[in-house]
Amino acid sequence: DAGKGGYDHYMLKEIHEQPTSLRQTLRGRADPATGDIALEDFPPGTFEEISRVQFVACGTSYHAGLVGSHFIGSRGLPAQTFLASEYAVSAPPVDENTLVVGVTQSGETADTLSALRRAEAGGARTLAVTNVVGSTAARECDDAMFIRAGPEIGVAATKTFSSQVVSLSLLGERLVRDVVGRRSDDTQDVLSALADLPDHVQRILDYTKAHRVAKRYRDSDSYFFIGRGSVFPVALEGALKFKEISYEHAEGFAAGELKHGPLALVTPATPVFAVFTGRHDRKTLSNMKEVEARGAPVVAVASETNEEIVQYADDVLTIPDTHPDVAGILANVQLQLLSYHAAAQLDRPIDKPRNLAKSVTVE
Ligand code: G6P
Repeated sequence: DAGKGGYDHYMLKEIHEQPTSLRQTLRGRADPATGDIALEDFPPGTFEEISRVQFVACGTSYHAGLVGSHFIGSRGLPAQTFLASEYAVSAPPVDENTLVVGVTQSGETADTLSALRRAEAGGARTLAVTNVVGSTAARECDDAMFIRAGPEIGVAATKTFSSQVVSLSLLGERLVRDVVGRRSDDTQDVLSALADLPDHVQRILDYTKAHRVAKRYRDSDSYFFIGRGSVFPVALEGALKFKEISYEHAEGFAAGELKHGPLALVTPATPVFAVFTGRHDRKTLSNMKEVEARGAPVVAVASETNEEIVQYADDVLTIPDTHPDVAGILANVQLQLLSYHAAAQLDRPIDKPRNLAKSVTVE
């Protein structure tokens, strides 16, 4: 219990450590004033030969990979994310100009190691983005980038997801500059949003209403999460976290896909959590109205200044205003807290959910 630092669970402690862990991830790596990026092992030009990027990962790390490929792809460098277990059996073509990035907190996940080995055998260049120095992924890959989140004990990954996304954004900027040959147009905005992130997360931790929202929707049949673009992966991650630790049924959907099937499941007993970033909000708002019309309660995770969303939602979990590509990290912190409180109210064994392991070393 001493290790929990006064918190009831490691998960809650680790959620609260995020301002500190994010500062560690960022330390010395980016200067918003000049737009400079300084990644220890990756000076400018490191990735000049690369023409496309593939991310391979499992679970929460897969969701971080999806955010990473969105970030890079939207800045002009072809990028895709694959589930490592699938990549290991049906890998797309690679060559020496392909960078395959294994995103793995532990650096020991068997599926991710298999995918990386397959990529290497195909001639790709490999890079591990991991929390653990000396891990198998860090040793076996051509290069490693460390996310510096500090040890994570709770089986449900929290602070490592946030640090993975920040690391992939910095790595993404380096890649785009090297390959596309120029800084992204919004580089300085992204870097200053990242610099503000630790304080913004602290603000969420200080003022969250997630425990009240969890209580209000406690006896629901299912919990749905929707998001679009950079926060589609956050919807997936919100649902994964929720089911992992509360044992309640939860699913994440691309907001635009609801009407192509999942809408049939929506009832007054299925609250829908809709994630907004300030980009594509109008479309997601119309998806939110579609589920409301079917009687579902809607909880928006959105900027406190967006009055229209606030007006339509039954509840709002607010996030500070920031760059749309960084907003997802903040929204995810609210969803981590929501899952935590939902599970705590159901008295679940939060740090060791049944049937799950922190690191899965079998395929
Ligand atoms: C397990 C954990 C998840 C984690 C996944 C990938 O399933 O329970 O929380 O996201 O492995 O782990 P990795 O160490 O590769 O990030």
